[in-house]
Amino acid sequence: MTAVNYTEKIPNNVNLASDRTLQRALEHWQPKFLQWWHELGPTDFETADVYLRTAVSVDAKGWAQYGYVRMPEYRWGIFLADPVPDRRIGFGDAMGQPVWQQVPGEYRSQLRRLIVTQGDTEPASVEQQRLLGRTCPSLYDLRNLFQVNVEEGRHLWAMVYLLHAYFGRDGREEAEELLARHSGDADKPRILSTFNEPISDWLSFYCFTYFTDRDGKYQLKSLAESAFDPLSRTCRFMLTEEAHHMFVGETGIGRVIRRTLEVMKELGTDDPARIRAAGAIELPLVQKYLNFWCSSSLDLFGSEISSNAAFNFASGMKGRPDESQYEDHVLRGATLRLPTPEGEQEVPARNAINEMMRESYLKDCEIGLKRWNRMIERAGYPELQLSLPSPHFRRAIGLWAGQPVDPRGNLVPREEYERRLADWIPSAEDRAFVHSLMKPVTEPGKMAAWIAPPERGINNQPVEYEYVRLH
Ligand SMILES: [Fe+2]
Ligand SMILES: [Fe+2]
Repeated sequence: MTAVNYTEKIPNNVNLASDRTLQRALEHWQPKFLQWWHELGPTDFETADVYLRTAVSVDAKGWAQYGYVRMPEYRWGIFLADPVPDRRIGFGDAMGQPVWQQVPGEYRSQLRRLIVTQGDTEPASVEQQRLLGRTCPSLYDLRNLFQVNVEEGRHLWAMVYLLHAYFGRDGREEAEELLARHSGDADKPRILSTFNEPISDWLSFYCFTYFTDRDGKYQLKSLAESAFDPLSRTCRFMLTEEAHHMFVGETGIGRVIRRTLEVMKELGTDDPARIRAAGAIELPLVQKYLNFWCSSSLDLFGSEISSNAAFNFASGMKGRPDESQYEDHVLRGATLRLPTPEGEQEVPARNAINEMMRESYLKDCEIGLKRWNRMIERAGYPELQLSLPSPHFRRAIGLWAGQPVDPRGNLVPREEYERRLADWIPSAEDRAFVHSLMKPVTEPGKMAAWIAPPERGINNQPVEYEYVRLH
């Protein structure tokens, strides 16, 4: 079951050949996907040989195989984690009952919506990162970008498989729409706003993979709990791929900080103007990028109080990330106190699922911060430590939407908020400065001056390995 069949047009471990209708439908969608990749995937690098990993099996040992691949020839396919024998629903009203192998009629439209919303983010991020290759800080980073891109492409395949296999004609139509909406498009934008933000510099890319891909990780974790077993199995395998995206974000930001600290040491100052003149990014500017991408990603969890989330939980469609770590999996009659701009409010716990997800997400976000801050402290600048903004800062969705809250969580007069926003998130001038640093470095082993080299290479290869062969 775990072995992936690569002899077929669409690599898969779901025995696709046994369902001719489904196979034909997906083979019909495949050229449209490739066309989309050609038009909106990474630009300029279609003929480059990229040192990529490809899934060969879904078990923990050796799911990945490394080798040079031209991206348009990447073997995108359909991989599900192995079924768990006698798996039972782990939360909600149907807790303890067998999981669903088919979509229950009464949950059909809501499940489809969950899958489409997740599916929409996957190609969106590829579109957002389309031009980044042109300004890569190294071949190592270029390769990592492309690895993330091809895997997001595969995540789209994962969701399209579910739509085709379980949702009939409307599923097929939704699969077409996933290629018709485009990030930032005025008429047909992507569903969620963070996925319409342009990612035009590498610091934004690292922040995106740190914060926004991590939201993806938490969404996938909660869908991996789903009573709809094919969705759970799909998401469980996607999570193994997502781990690399987190790695790219955490080490990317870490390397930017390391380089800045080196420059500060060389210059003997933390004066931002001098750091910039030396071609590095001062830590307060890194903080602004963290504030921007963290606050934007927090909105992806939705409203603090949500009857939709309550319904998803009660029905078994979507649980909480790592549901087994909670004590109460039913939450009937349980309540939670939530801070609101008007003071604390007690709400039914099921309606506060989004907030519980956001809390566990923020805990996960803290891990990188701790590492970076240790590095900053060791360099002798404890006063320059970085932090996450308050979850109430710059929110556009939920109880705190549009509230003038500073990054520390204080409600401030609106004029002050407007005036100081440029101190808290990157200003046009800050962005222009970061953009000015974005010059491609494509000699093996060489790094752009604003970022330190990684500690090690990919798959035990040296850092100076030719991770991308350009033609
Ligand atoms: Fe993804
Ligand atoms: Fe991702």
